[in-house]
Amino acid sequence: MQKSWVEQTFSEQQVSTPEHVVRLFGELHAQSTDSARSISTPEKLEDFRVHWIGRKAGILTQVTENWLKPASPELKRTVGQELNKLKSHLESLIETRRVAIEAGADESALARERVDLSLPGVKRPIGSHHLIRQVFQQIEDIFVSIGFSVVEGPEIETPYYNFEALNIPEFHPVRDDMDTFYLELPKGAPSPLLLRTHTSPMQIRTMEKRQPPVRVIVPGKVYRRDNPDATHSFAFHQVEGLAVDTDITFCDFTGTIEYFVKQFFGPGVKTRFRPSYFPFTEPSVEFDVTCVFCGGSGVSAGGGTCSKCKGAGWIELFGAGMVDPAVYGFVKYDPKKVSGFAFGIGIDRLAMLKYGIDDIQVFFQNDVRFLRQFP
Ligand code: FA5
Repeated sequence: MQKSWVEQTFSEQQVSTPEHVVRLFGELHAQSTDSARSISTPEKLEDFRVHWIGRKAGILTQVTENWLKPASPELKRTVGQELNKLKSHLESLIETRRVAIEAGADESALARERVDLSLPGVKRPIGSHHLIRQVFQQIEDIFVSIGFSVVEGPEIETPYYNFEALNIPEFHPVRDDMDTFYLELPKGAPSPLLLRTHTSPMQIRTMEKRQPPVRVIVPGKVYRRDNPDATHSFAFHQVEGLAVDTDITFCDFTGTIEYFVKQFFGPGVKTRFRPSYFPFTEPSVEFDVTCVFCGGSGVSAGGGTCSKCKGAGWIELFGAGMVDPAVYGFVKYDPKKVSGFAFGIGIDRLAMLKYGIDDIQVFFQNDVRFLRQFP
């Protein structure tokens, strides 16, 4: 096979003058410029690099081996100079093409990623309020419509607000029911702290801050050491209510509660009081409504005893009462001048009653099949 001209030495090609050498290099210069022009991909650029300046068998290496090394002393200088020129020309060709290819890649990536504003948007479902939140809202709407305002308070409380100021001294048996979650605190902390067991501490905090007339409701989370079952959870929700003024009577109290219950459940339900006991209300009552499952008959649709009210026809709703005068002492209200009522509604059980839910645990399981039923 015939050798290519870069494989032949100058004597084989009969090159003997510096001008001839310059011409030969000029041809390599032109060839490389020409073939670089069509390079459009990184792969082709790599082929070009290997072909021209590849260490093992690139044109430059061949020129060094076949032209420079065996050149006569008269030509060596010219060959050396021309070789250097060719080398920097090739390097600049490669760099120029590399920059051009990368710019092209950027441009096509830009074109690919360009946002088409004419496309329809992506719809993201925004979800809905949890049923407990919806019930809070319904209750707030009813009470706000009759002049109450909404306040919120801390879930971590001191025993003073959770118990003592509510007339529940240390060692009072009522605390047994609420024996609850205390926080581990560093030594020397000014007071023990616990997760509040009811929203009633906000009665005290509100009266400390405001002078009568006071009409507030307090929605919030509460915590107790209760074992979970169909009607008990260790974390649940309450709405506290408090109205204190100079002339509030038991009639205002019952009228307000009946109004609320009828607004919330509908005009068909009936209410009744039963005597009860809370250290911070006197008298204290337990409020019942006619069973929403059997319509108050005590008999289920199948003819048997209604399992929800156990045949009583009534379901216990919440505790309430007239504020005990002893409580006013803790907030520096004059018990001779003011009177009022308070109530504490268990929201989870209220929601269960209204929506016919028979297990409180579903509120906390976050099963979307349940949640979606209450959009
Ligand atoms: C109280 O918590 C009083 N603070 C209510 C009160 C306020 C009375 C103001 C008088 C004046 P009681 O412990 O009964 O009361 O709880 C109130 C309601 O919370 C109950 O009727 C019930 O609906 C709900 N409840 C109590 N324990 C749980 C529990 N473990 N899980 C779910 N709901 C509960």
